[in-house]
Amino acid sequence: MTSTNTGENSRQSEHEEALKRAEKAVQAGAGRAAQDPFRLRYHLMAPSGWMNDPNGLIHFKGEYHAFYQHFPFGDYQGPMYWGHAVSRDLVRWEHRPVALAPTEPYEFGSPEGGCGCWSGSAVEHEGEMVLFYTAHVDGSTPEEVQAMATSKDGIRFIKHPVPVIQGSPDGECFGFRDPKVWEHEGRWYMVIGSGNNGRGRALLYESANLVEWSYQGVAAESDGTQGDMWECPDLFPLGDKYVLIVSPMNMDGVKNLYMIGEMDFAEGRFTPESSGIIDDGPDFYAAQTMRDSNGRRILIAWMDMWGSKLINTGRAWYGALTLARELQIAEDGTLASRPVKELDTLRGEQVANFESGLRLQPDEDRSWELPTAFEWQADIELSETEAQELRIVISGAGEDLSGAESAGTSRSVSDQRTIIRWLAAQSSIELNRNEAGIGDSGIYTTALPATVNARLQLRLFVDNSSVELFINDGDRVLTSRIYPLASGRRLQIQAVGGTLVFKGMRLWKVDGLVVGQ
Ligand code: FRU
Repeated sequence: MTSTNTGENSRQSEHEEALKRAEKAVQAGAGRAAQDPFRLRYHLMAPSGWMNDPNGLIHFKGEYHAFYQHFPFGDYQGPMYWGHAVSRDLVRWEHRPVALAPTEPYEFGSPEGGCGCWSGSAVEHEGEMVLFYTAHVDGSTPEEVQAMATSKDGIRFIKHPVPVIQGSPDGECFGFRDPKVWEHEGRWYMVIGSGNNGRGRALLYESANLVEWSYQGVAAESDGTQGDMWECPDLFPLGDKYVLIVSPMNMDGVKNLYMIGEMDFAEGRFTPESSGIIDDGPDFYAAQTMRDSNGRRILIAWMDMWGSKLINTGRAWYGALTLARELQIAEDGTLASRPVKELDTLRGEQVANFESGLRLQPDEDRSWELPTAFEWQADIELSETEAQELRIVISGAGEDLSGAESAGTSRSVSDQRTIIRWLAAQSSIELNRNEAGIGDSGIYTTALPATVNARLQLRLFVDNSSVELFINDGDRVLTSRIYPLASGRRLQIQAVGGTLVFKGMRLWKVDGLVVGQ
C-alpha cells in the first residue's frame, strides 16, 4: 500500500514537473504570438503553441471551462497536452495553467509519432471535476485507452493511476477515442468514437461510479456514406429529442455531422431520424457541447481543419476555437447553432445604424473602413427585394503587412477579399475565399432553409483571420479562416440586378478585447 502510494506520488510530481515545463514554454512564446498579424481579438487561442479540439467543456461552479488539445512547445502538432481557459460569459476567456501533460507510458511515445493526452470531456461529480481523455501512443498495443483525472478546484488535476478502459472491445476497429461522458437518470454514460469495416461508429459504455465501465454496444453507426471513423462523438438531449454530433473521417467533403433522433438507454441504441451538417464552412471540426446551469446546450468547435495549409510556420501559435453557439432545433427540424446572447456585449463603437431600413440600389456603393474585428447585422425584406444577389465583400485595407511575409501574395491589400453572396435564384449563400489572402482557397455554399421566405437575417462576425456567418440566427452557419495581410478591413455591400430592401442594418467595431493575453 505504502509503496503504491509512493509510486503514485512520484508519478504525480512527475506530472507536475511536466506541466511546469509546458507552462514555461507557453509563456515564453506568448509575446511573439501576440505580435502576429493573424492573431484573433475575440476568439479563444492558446497564449502560444499549437491548439486543436476543444475538450472538457463544462460549466463548473459558475465558470465555463474550455480545455483544448495543445502542444505547448511549438506551433505544430506534437505530443498532446490539455490547455485550459475559463470564462464567466463564454466571451471573455482567461488562461489557466496547462492542465494535463502526457507522462504515463500509455500517453507518451516517440515525439515523431502521434501521442499524448488526446481529446475528451468533463463532468462534475460530488463537487469535483472529472476529466476523461484518450491516452494515445502510435504503434503501441493497444494504441488508445481511456484515462481519467480528477480535480477539486478545476485547475490542478490528479490522474487516476490506471486507464479506466484498457482497450477497445473490437479488435478490428479503426480508432477508439474521444470519450464524451454524461449522466442520465443516476447512471453515467460514455460514447467513444470508432470505426469498423468502413463505417464510423459511436460505442456506448455505462458506469455507476465513473471508474468501472461496462460496454453496452454500438450506439450508432454510419449508414455507409457517413465516414469510416467518427471522431469526437457527442450524444445529448435537446428538447424532446437526442442529438448525436460527430466529426467523420473520410466522408467526401463533409467534416461535421449531426443526427437528430431517439435514444433508447435500455437497448443502448440511438436511432437517427434526420441528419445534416452543423456548419457548412471549411473550418469547423471536433465540435463539443456542454449544458450550462441555465439549461442551454452550448457548442464550441475547433476553427481550423486538419490538412489546411499551415500558414503558421514561425508564428509561435496555431489554432483557435469558434465563438460559442447555443444549439436549438430550428423551425424546419434542422439543428440551429445560434450565437450566444453574451456575444452582444462585444459590440464597441457603432459604425452604421439603419434602424428604419435602407433601400440599396444596384449602382450604389456602400462601404466602411474598419478595424480587423467587427460585427455586421442585416435584416433583409425578401418580399420587397428585386435584387438577384447581395454581395458582401470583406477586403484588406489600411497598411499592407505582406512585406514581412516570405510567403507573401502578389495581390494588393484591397484585392485580398472574401466574397459572400446571397443568390436569390438558388436560394443559397456562398462564401468565396479564393482571393482571401495567403491561406487556402475554396467556395462553400449553404442552401437556405425553406423557412426563409419573407425575411433573411445575416449576422457576420469578422475577427481578423476568421469569418463566422450566421444565417437566420444560426439556422445555417458558415465558418472560415481567411488570411489577408492588411492592418484593417473594408466592408462593402452591393445589390445586383435590382433594389435590395433592408429592414435594418447595423455595424459595430469590436475593439479593445484581446482575449487571452
Ligand atoms: C480530432 C482528433 C481527435 C483526437 C485529437 C488529437 O481533431 O483527431 O480524434 O483525439 O484530435 O489531437
